[in-house]
Amino acid sequence: MIIRIPKASDVKSSEITPENIYKQRRLFMQAAGLGALGLMTGDILAKAEERSLRPLAQLNKSPFSTDEDMTSYKDVTQYNNFYELGTGKKDPYRFSNYLKPSPWSITIEGECTKPGTYNLEDFIRPYALEERIYRMRCVEGWSMVIPWVGFPLASMIKQFEPTSRAKYVAFETLYDPEMLPGQKRPVLPWPYVEGLRMDEAMNPLTILSVGLYGKELPNQNGAPIRLVVPWKYGFKSIKSIVKIRFVEEQPRSTWNVVTPNEYGFYSNVNPEVDHPRWSQGRERRIGEFLKRDTLMFNGYAEEVASLYSGMDLKKFF
Ligand code: MTE
Repeated sequence: MIIRIPKASDVKSSEITPENIYKQRRLFMQAAGLGALGLMTGDILAKAEERSLRPLAQLNKSPFSTDEDMTSYKDVTQYNNFYELGTGKKDPYRFSNYLKPSPWSITIEGECTKPGTYNLEDFIRPYALEERIYRMRCVEGWSMVIPWVGFPLASMIKQFEPTSRAKYVAFETLYDPEMLPGQKRPVLPWPYVEGLRMDEAMNPLTILSVGLYGKELPNQNGAPIRLVVPWKYGFKSIKSIVKIRFVEEQPRSTWNVVTPNEYGFYSNVNPEVDHPRWSQGRERRIGEFLKRDTLMFNGYAEEVASLYSGMDLKKFF
């Protein structure tokens, strides 16, 4: 992903003073590299693995799982993108303890008959948890195979009875700069937001995940609950969700807002549509040496190609 350094022209002229331009620039410079969260202390690093993750019992096996070799637990949990916990790949792991995923509540709003705010336990209680071993492809050109634990987003959507005006589902990450200190820097517009068209959200492959490798989700992977959409680039799979909203218009999605010519709303894995700055035809599976071909819809074409029939995927990328 690229980090957009706001231009001075993005700031209203009334807000410009030489001093705050200087300060802003310094913050952006810090945010752009490994020093993003450089003010944090060493004891946080030492505590990174302390949160003990509860095993999640009685997991149903899913027919949607791949039988490909899984990426190691270490790589899945220590090579992450979670800009709220830093921009380096190891930062989310190192700074994971800032996030307190319990207690947690989720608000459902918008075009549905049963809006409300629920604590996480009540929110997920109705659903049987499954293990879903999915290929995941990041737009940066690497991929993993991850045994998620979760339940179909469709089951949740049905529960809240969206109205006929609900054409899309919008998701929002927690905004809390104390728990997600990367939000103290304007690296991205916060909170992180994402969205799916209703038929994409209802597709049986789309899940809300609450765990991986048979245990609760580690903070750096988006605890306590995140989206997983395996035929789309990884950035659609928004982490640490606090709000789900049924809406009529296509919702904003963070990377599309930041760089619309590079990241489209759909962001389907598509080896035939290159990112303006790099090819999407090949990928490196983390843990492997040689690159492999990227498959259309990340190998899930049978399940999802019909969602896009008749659409020009070069235009709606
Ligand atoms: N969600 C939030 N809130 N913030 C982020 O920075 N990064 C996205 C996505 N979800 C991101 C996010 C990107 S770019 C990717 S590739 C995946 O999370 C990475 O998920 P993983 O670290 O669990 O593999």
